[in-house]
Amino acid sequence: MNKMKQEIVDKSLQAFHAGLFAGTSGNMSVYLKEEDLMLITPTSVRYETMTAEDIVALKLDGTIVEGHYKPSSEWRMHAEVYKAHPDTGAVFHTHSPHATAFAANRMSIPAVLIEAHFFLGGDIRCADYATPGTPEVGINAAKVLEGRGGCTLANHGVLAVGKDLSQAYLNAEYIEDMARIYILAKQIGQPIELAQL
Ligand code: 13P
Repeated sequence: MNKMKQEIVDKSLQAFHAGLFAGTSGNMSVYLKEEDLMLITPTSVRYETMTAEDIVALKLDGTIVEGHYKPSSEWRMHAEVYKAHPDTGAVFHTHSPHATAFAANRMSIPAVLIEAHFFLGGDIRCADYATPGTPEVGINAAKVLEGRGGCTLANHGVLAVGKDLSQAYLNAEYIEDMARIYILAKQIGQPIELAQL
């Protein structure tokens, strides 16, 4: 479990340096199915100073098992995604700027790159708005995550999922990349959506 906590810290710092989130925004979790435990980043702690001991272990009902900080304020969102998609092992919430621009417009990110089909399962849909911190954020996300490696959250950010942390991280990178390239392509022409490979 400590190794997994360290991996969350390392990946969070990597994401911070990659510009996938700013300040203390964003959060990351792993679900250990056999132990029925979610490991999640603490709320409002700077990624530059976060250590493995700061990662909170809790049950999907919110019962804290280990940790000296409060869990991410979005732990309910993470829990709802794990409940609705039992094959998901990691959830990564970013505020990556280009994809979040789509979320601000409540627009899907069209599948304009081959990676959309290789990794993401198609276009990236936008989940209906829900009050931050409520289970509804995750319930709404779970609906548009069906068959996808991620979604955006209306006026909020991005949610990437995977069987493990590496896959969720990769999906978060491709979601941001596709959003950025779509915005660039739109400035010089009319991007063509790739319905299938
Ligand atoms: P936490 O610091 O509580 O994880 O919140 C950050 C965030 O991005 C909320 O959506």
